[in-house]
Amino acid sequence: MTIKSNNKRKLIKAKANRWGIQFLLVTVFVGLFVTHAFTQKKIIKRMGTTNTTLFDDGWLFARYGLQPDGTRKPEPSNLEKITLNDRVAPWKELDLPHDWGITGPFRIELEGSTGKLPWKGIGWYRKHFKIDVKDANKQIFVDFDGAMANAKIWLNGHYVGTWPYGYNSFRMDLTPFIKVGEDNLIAVRLDTENWDSRWYPGAGIYRHVWLVKTDPVHVGHWGTNITTPQVSDASAKVNMAVTVDNQGLEAVKASIQSAVYELDGQNRKGRRVTDFNNTSLDIPIGGSATAGTSAQINRPKRWDITSPNRYVVETSIIVNRKVVDTYLTPFGVRTIEFTATKGFLLNGRRVEIQGTCNHHDLGALGAAFNESALHRQLVILKQMGCNALRTSHNPPAPELLEMADQMGFLVWDEAFDSWKHGKRKLDYNKLFDQWHQKDLTAMVHRDRNHPSVIIWSIGNEVLEQEDVQLTKHLADIIRGEDPTRPVSNGYNNPDGGRASGAAQALDVMGVNYFFNKQSDWDKDPRYKNMPTLGSETSSCVSSRGEYFFGTDYKNWQITSYDHAHPGWGCTPDEQFRINAKYPNLLGEFVWTGFDYLGEPTPYNTDATNLLNFRNDPSKKAALARKLQELNAKTPPSRSSYFGIVDLAGFPKDRFYLYQSHWRPDLPMAHILPHWNWPNRIDSIVPVDVYTSGDQAELFLNGKSLGKKTKRPGIDFRLSWDSVVYEPGELKVVSYKNGKKWATDVVKTTSPATQLKISTDRHHIKTVGNDLAFITVKITDKDGLMVPDASNLVQFSVEGPGEIVATDNGDATSFASFQSPSKKAFNGMVLAIVKFKKGSQGKFKVIAKSGGLSSAMEVISAK
Ligand code: GAL
Repeated sequence: MTIKSNNKRKLIKAKANRWGIQFLLVTVFVGLFVTHAFTQKKIIKRMGTTNTTLFDDGWLFARYGLQPDGTRKPEPSNLEKITLNDRVAPWKELDLPHDWGITGPFRIELEGSTGKLPWKGIGWYRKHFKIDVKDANKQIFVDFDGAMANAKIWLNGHYVGTWPYGYNSFRMDLTPFIKVGEDNLIAVRLDTENWDSRWYPGAGIYRHVWLVKTDPVHVGHWGTNITTPQVSDASAKVNMAVTVDNQGLEAVKASIQSAVYELDGQNRKGRRVTDFNNTSLDIPIGGSATAGTSAQINRPKRWDITSPNRYVVETSIIVNRKVVDTYLTPFGVRTIEFTATKGFLLNGRRVEIQGTCNHHDLGALGAAFNESALHRQLVILKQMGCNALRTSHNPPAPELLEMADQMGFLVWDEAFDSWKHGKRKLDYNKLFDQWHQKDLTAMVHRDRNHPSVIIWSIGNEVLEQEDVQLTKHLADIIRGEDPTRPVSNGYNNPDGGRASGAAQALDVMGVNYFFNKQSDWDKDPRYKNMPTLGSETSSCVSSRGEYFFGTDYKNWQITSYDHAHPGWGCTPDEQFRINAKYPNLLGEFVWTGFDYLGEPTPYNTDATNLLNFRNDPSKKAALARKLQELNAKTPPSRSSYFGIVDLAGFPKDRFYLYQSHWRPDLPMAHILPHWNWPNRIDSIVPVDVYTSGDQAELFLNGKSLGKKTKRPGIDFRLSWDSVVYEPGELKVVSYKNGKKWATDVVKTTSPATQLKISTDRHHIKTVGNDLAFITVKITDKDGLMVPDASNLVQFSVEGPGEIVATDNGDATSFASFQSPSKKAFNGMVLAIVKFKKGSQGKFKVIAKSGGLSSAMEVISAK
């Protein structure tokens, strides 16, 4: 029995979302009006020195050591030498960002915890480039946003430097070895064989690289530090410290002039708002000096998650009446307070942290950073009501913070997953002694001007979390660099951290999964006034579109009734109940917003799961036995089940559970499961409804199955546990304060007959790896998605476009992400497309599947 339910369901959801749309329209209109003044202004691509250009194109790459098939290719010596002919195999030309692990193939015998992908190996990158003779007197730097891992850099055969931690950004000064007007060769060696991870780390120069040219006297790397010590509605005092380096041949007197401009949502510089006091510095040869200056902004426009207003400071360094450097520093004016009794206050207003933890990979694109992919993720999280991001468990791509600033997210910026003691053999423990100070400092210097960053985290579940000295040492390094934000640490043994006194070195207690003990903790006078935040919560697991009866786990998948979680976790509902009990807590970061590559708990057969029990040996033993059993079966799982949204970016049911709680003013209702159960006629199919209403009535084929009411603080879903299945239409009508609020409908479908296609964007840029995300649904004749369809869909492109990757969100799929064909998983499949390099115009994306009518989308140049 089939009814036109998909369309109707869409209409109902559209209606339910109408306030959201109206809000959007108003915002767009106001945005257009406000930004009118900016339209002629140039877009700022990158903070820092204005003479900064992307250095991503035309690299040559060769892979040695471990190969994708597990064999080994010896690494020759002299790969950094100019004399080497890199125009022949095995050298291949490519553009960055690049992740050499994501092309696979998946191999069953590889660790599930790192995605069963062959990311271990030795990668060499070489790039030839020219520096114009007119730049003969310039300093030439290359800024790496991140290179995985153990990066070593040479220029023209000379060793320049190293930065082993793959998640940090770093600068290399090429000046001593640059040849102007001639070919220069930069060579980079990366080594992931000497790196271990509990999740898929990626491999390669996986973030952007930039070429920076400055005069010998210039603002230092991340050389500005802006704070706003006094903020009121009438005015904001803005302090800035500017560090200037002198790499010239004589001591100089430099004067520093800085002006503040408005900065719009597209990074366009607007009205000049005020000036900083002029100041000057005497800088010795080869030295640097720091000047402090301040300014006042009248009636400052606050940065807030609801109105992410920003400013940009343009700093000019003047030597002998000549401007030698211009440097841009975006920032925001906002106040943050972490209180034990009133929660977290942003600009004086209580904001509950509704956050998600996320790893850095972008699903089918692997770790290779891509702006459009990250932006799509953040838009999805915003729609859910997520207002905060935890960069688990490492510093993010710098663009994440820029987008967080622009879109209004709060950020928990995290440094490490290990300190001196690794969780795996080759964790950060290998680097800790020599590098922790440099890595922490780099993180704070790079990220300190972002208004979105509200907390620094020195770690996640580190093995030394009870170590008083070490905790204090790391927290003090951070405070020495930035005293304006609190320092935290994610504890999986908060009792130990509190009992030992280590937690006293922190400003905010970060607690992973132990929220229900707050009342005990409050009894300890040492921590009475310490705010607590759920740095990691829930860890609910599910597979999109899978529903099981009588069990939560089957076929390496997990039911989407949102009940399943590992021993250390809880359901989202349970966490909401705990949060409601302790309203003075700051909120939570759910593990995780998106599924990620690796850590397919509960189907990983390695030590990853065991690590979560290290404080409870009895549980550890039981889990070790389970893992042994699993080991014998070799699970095919290669990505996580934790995501609220699957790896392809398709929301699971849980998305609507969070939306119902996090966006109480958005009228919405969502029914689960789907309604195609031909083998369960006359058997029970439990039905759950997620709604932002407080009551709901369920109807099966027009018959009421009763009205249910949420108990405030206790119920976060409404359940009809004894619905006897009959095909047809299941409909819910929800109510709020006695008034009709939202509806949702699911219907039994007929067999699949056609493909339905849609895209997140019809217009994309032809440059810079801009992407469109194309969703194909397998539907019946009425356009209803067939919820268990697994048809193979073949994507092709007509015109100057290409398919970058495909995915379906199935954690057990070993099909290549680069393949243009993919089976649908529970009715859905994704293709990621872009313009071919150097092309224009438009292209067609065609989706075909045997026996079904095909579908097509047109993507045009922006
Ligand atoms: C936590 C850990 C995370 C992830 C999670 C899975 O204990 O911090 O990195 O492993 O468990 O539930």
